[in-house]
Amino acid sequence: MDWGLKNRLAHIIKPNDNRALMLAVDHGYFLGPTEKLEIPKKTIGPLLKYCDSLMLTRGVQRTSVNPTYPVPIVLRVSGGASIIGQDLSNEQITVSIKDAIRLNASALAMSIFVGAKHEHQTIVNLSKLVNDANEYNLPVLAVTAVGKEIGQKDARYLSLACRIAAEHGAHIVKTYYCDNFERVVDSCPVPIIVAGGKKIPERDALELAYNSIKGGAVGVDMGRNIWQSENPVPMIRAVHNIIHGNANVDEAYELYKKLCQPKPKSPKTKK
Ligand code: 5RP
Repeated sequence: MDWGLKNRLAHIIKPNDNRALMLAVDHGYFLGPTEKLEIPKKTIGPLLKYCDSLMLTRGVQRTSVNPTYPVPIVLRVSGGASIIGQDLSNEQITVSIKDAIRLNASALAMSIFVGAKHEHQTIVNLSKLVNDANEYNLPVLAVTAVGKEIGQKDARYLSLACRIAAEHGAHIVKTYYCDNFERVVDSCPVPIIVAGGKKIPERDALELAYNSIKGGAVGVDMGRNIWQSENPVPMIRAVHNIIHGNANVDEAYELYKKLCQPKPKSPKTKK
């Protein structure tokens, strides 16, 4: 592996423990102003120091992230469909490699829609993106998107989608957790990161993170289960404790609850 590629991958998957905590805030690219991400700057700011990397679009990066803050960027470069449009799988590559380099991206992210109407187009897009990105040693993260019509997220489907992403050259695959998740990991020759999915109770989301790591994922790319929590900072710190601190679910949940407690006021010193 060339130095540049290795170096960029190390921004995302921390080499000391081979783990990754990616904060996903790219939802607006097809969902518009998603709940609690209406003002991206407000959502992202307090969470930045607890994530290893930030997954977002160039629009949010340029408008809502302080360029002097050294957070590695996983730049979403696919899009072109919306939640109210005809077909979510009808995506193209929307960002040039030049612009990704201008934005100092550590990796590029795009979705493939295996089994959907535009499966062919999205898989070929992945291959072409890998061809272009390889010229500059930029890693590509493929998201195995499930779209509206592909309901099932079982190990059979996800193994198929992840393997196809890896075979077409993705350096990292982002997918969903499922029963028999080990099967998905074992048959995918590149690292897997798990998406958080829709908001669920905090303890359940911590369990998802824990099971993902236990099942062989290198980490999580979590969005809504962090910033749609009533307590986003305690939540990301609890997830961090699982990913990088080897905490179990109980330990992480205890930490979450402790961090939610109001801090005791320090006694006033007499003059
Ligand atoms: C959407 C994405 C999101 O980044 C991904 O789903 C992670 O966010 P969440 O944890 O909210 O599901 O890639 O296609």
